[in-house]
Amino acid sequence: MLLERYLETIGSEAIQRALNLDGPRPALVRPTTDPKFGDFQINGAMKLAKELGRPPRELAQPIAEALRGIDAIEKAEVAGPGFVNIHLSNAWIAKTLTEALHDLDRDGVPPVEDPEKVIVDFSSPNIAKQMHVGHLRSTIIGDAISRILSFVGHDVVRDNHLGDWGTQFGLLIVGMREWGEEAALQSDPITELERVYKLASERAGRDEAFADQARAELAKLQSGDADNRKLWEHFVEVSRTALDAVYAELDVSFDVWLGESAYHEALPGVVDALLGKGIAREDDGAVCIFWDELDSAPKNLRKQKTPFIVRKKDGAFLYSTTDIATVLHRANALHADRALYVVDNRQGLHFQQLFAAMRLLGVDMALEHIGFGTVLGRDGKPLRTRDASGHVITLASLLEESKQRARARIDEGIAEGRLRVRPEEMDEVSRVVGIGAVKYADLRQNRLSDYQFDWDKMISFQGNAGPYLQYAYARCASIFAKGGLTMDDSAAEASILLETPTEQTLGRHLMRFADVVHQAAITSQPHLICEHVYELSRAFNGFYAECPVLDADGATRESRLGLTAMTARQIRRGLDLVGIGVVDRM
Ligand code: ARG
Repeated sequence: MLLERYLETIGSEAIQRALNLDGPRPALVRPTTDPKFGDFQINGAMKLAKELGRPPRELAQPIAEALRGIDAIEKAEVAGPGFVNIHLSNAWIAKTLTEALHDLDRDGVPPVEDPEKVIVDFSSPNIAKQMHVGHLRSTIIGDAISRILSFVGHDVVRDNHLGDWGTQFGLLIVGMREWGEEAALQSDPITELERVYKLASERAGRDEAFADQARAELAKLQSGDADNRKLWEHFVEVSRTALDAVYAELDVSFDVWLGESAYHEALPGVVDALLGKGIAREDDGAVCIFWDELDSAPKNLRKQKTPFIVRKKDGAFLYSTTDIATVLHRANALHADRALYVVDNRQGLHFQQLFAAMRLLGVDMALEHIGFGTVLGRDGKPLRTRDASGHVITLASLLEESKQRARARIDEGIAEGRLRVRPEEMDEVSRVVGIGAVKYADLRQNRLSDYQFDWDKMISFQGNAGPYLQYAYARCASIFAKGGLTMDDSAAEASILLETPTEQTLGRHLMRFADVVHQAAITSQPHLICEHVYELSRAFNGFYAECPVLDADGATRESRLGLTAMTARQIRRGLDLVGIGVVDRM
């Protein structure tokens, strides 16, 4: 159940009853800053004081009394200038947790009441260029957001908006003819395309005839020439194979791959529409949106002198034009309610302009830029994608390294007797731990901040790191194994009791899960779920240090097994919602 929403409902009804009002008023429920004041604070009296012209403490008194009669509430006291502090009842928490424990499908997380169709535009690397760390972040964050939104009940379309169209293909076509090696293209397509592209663009810079040739090939491609089309398809296909390998390793999938090329034919229409509605105008042969000339443009953009160019002087369309066509497709053909663009902060201005242009075109679908910061190296500077000798560090090699490092750490743990992994499970465990560590290091941060890439902190069985949480899960699972029990069977009939203080603390953490998941969905902040899982694991440690589980008796044993199962399931579900796996044994 959504705890804060429930408290808000009972709180606002209590206010109405207590003060004989014509209808409910907001209870304004907030978690308390210190558990010694209780679990939540109801601030509604403060606001009502103004409306009713009475001192807030005088209103808070009857509100507290009205709250005292409610099942969920153990204690309600007036505090400070007129807050009401409430302590939840342990019996009520235990009853609510028992219901969630029996809910194997959703772990007590209700679906949203108003599901929407949401496009998540993420990953979206450019063909013929190595994916950089920014694309890795987009892939990891976008996948997590998609999983979270689907779980709470939205209809999610995961779209990989590949950069698969544009001027580089003219250069690639002439370049491949000149320098291309088919074998290299097959074995390591992106590296080969990148190599050839560099040679070609360098040559075009000093050789006009060559540059002309490239432009001619591009024009042929764009007008549908069969040979060039075939070449282009080949480039895209081999690149996709390489990308698919990375996505498979990351366990990330897409529903559609509507890259830039998919919108190619819609681009002239976009420019016509912008011109027709007086949103864009011609300037020296180019077509641009001049924000400072548009009364209806958003304020911050109106100060912007540089225009949003949608067609260049030579007739070429741009990233901006394609993105406008893409929104139109998402709104008009896919009937989406929202689109989320998981792209790094540096493209912030682009999206502001894109969204403003769409408003001017009359599109009312919700559009959000889900930005994120930069990955820094140990030196605090943006992580370099080349090693000391200038070799590119590809994403594939980075993931390979993470698995190797995880394996080394696991070997260490086995040697020291902390971990136990069966030899035949070693590959799988190293993969889950290594890839999970890279993802967790990224996702535990508020996405807007930069973070430092640090192998040692990332692959750690202590502290706030992926392996630590996976270990916490395995430890819960091992309790069931040791007792010859299965987690689900033990949960099926169990009733939770919250007898000792550490059980009550653990119970309060477990109660927050549904709220956290919904909050993460609303704000597109997967780190909220990571935070929850981490704090839950710590609360579980506190419980486990003090409360025997298998050695307890009767109803206490049953309840403690239930608490353990629920902890394990929230860790597993929480990690799964951000795309991280677990193993039962390690
Ligand atoms: N291909 C772009 C890049 O690598 C990212 C595309 C993001 N999505 C979008 N609809 N603009 O920078």
